[in-house]
Amino acid sequence: MSTVVITGIGKGIGRALAEKFVSEGFNVIGTSRSGKTDVAGTLVFELDLSDAESIKRTAHAIHAEVPVIDILINNAGVLLDEDETTLRPELLRGTLEVNLLGTVAFTEALKNYIVQDGHIVNISSTAGSLALADGSASHFPHHYPAYKISKTALNMYTRTLAVELSGKAIVSSVHPGWVQTDMGGPEANITPAEAAEGIFTVAISAPETGQFWFKGEKLPW
Ligand SMILES: NC(=O)c1ccc[n+]([C@@H]2O[C@H](COP(=O)([O-])OP(=O)(O)OC[C@H]3O[C@@H](n4cnc5c(N)ncnc54)[C@H](OP(=O)(O)O)[C@@H]3O)[C@@H](O)[C@H]2O)c1
Repeated sequence: MSTVVITGIGKGIGRALAEKFVSEGFNVIGTSRSGKTDVAGTLVFELDLSDAESIKRTAHAIHAEVPVIDILINNAGVLLDEDETTLRPELLRGTLEVNLLGTVAFTEALKNYIVQDGHIVNISSTAGSLALADGSASHFPHHYPAYKISKTALNMYTRTLAVELSGKAIVSSVHPGWVQTDMGGPEANITPAEAAEGIFTVAISAPETGQFWFKGEKLPW
């Protein structure tokens, strides 16, 4: 049975992803800050990506449970400056702690346990696309600068890790769409289950490494 590790399965897209992978017969290892989830058939560990000790402890516990990982999905993330039009350094710091530094530390702690030709999927956003930052995307051009910066940096981690793991594992950034979650809001145009379908399709395929995907198409960086 293939094993997938998914961060943030307590709610939103991560919860829907856990349900999808369980329904497809995967061994699903998830994380949440509470250490709980209501998704049946998963094993969940407590993880706070802003806490270095929590990251170390949880990566160790996951490795003790599953010696190898087929797919790692870095889904957990925060949007702390949704209503801000000015970059606030304290919000940038808090955002980077989770969306970049914690995600990188967790991945670095687990990357050696990814199987040959396994897949590391970083849930990114078109908000982090430099090419789309002129307002041509649906994102407000002046809003949530810290979140945008964090996803741009995460995308560069995808690129650098893809080079490092070339020939060993695939590394991708994936945009989930605009999704009806606490982060996306109720006016978003797809459900978490629909987003999970799209992410699942990319995650189980063997796409060109080091790319940024949405609905089977490459997004511009
Ligand atoms: N929704 C959208 O329209 C949209 C669009 C583009 C990209 N995304 C990306 O998709 C991913 C999932 O977002 P979502 O819409 O499902 O958001 P969400 O409903 O707000 O869920 C965020 C998830 O991240 C976890 N999380 C937050 N802070 C954490 C921390 N310090 N340590 C560990 N986990 C933490 C949460 O865990 P708890 O349950 O413990 O709070 C929760 O599971 C994010 O990376 C987001 O940037 C979303």
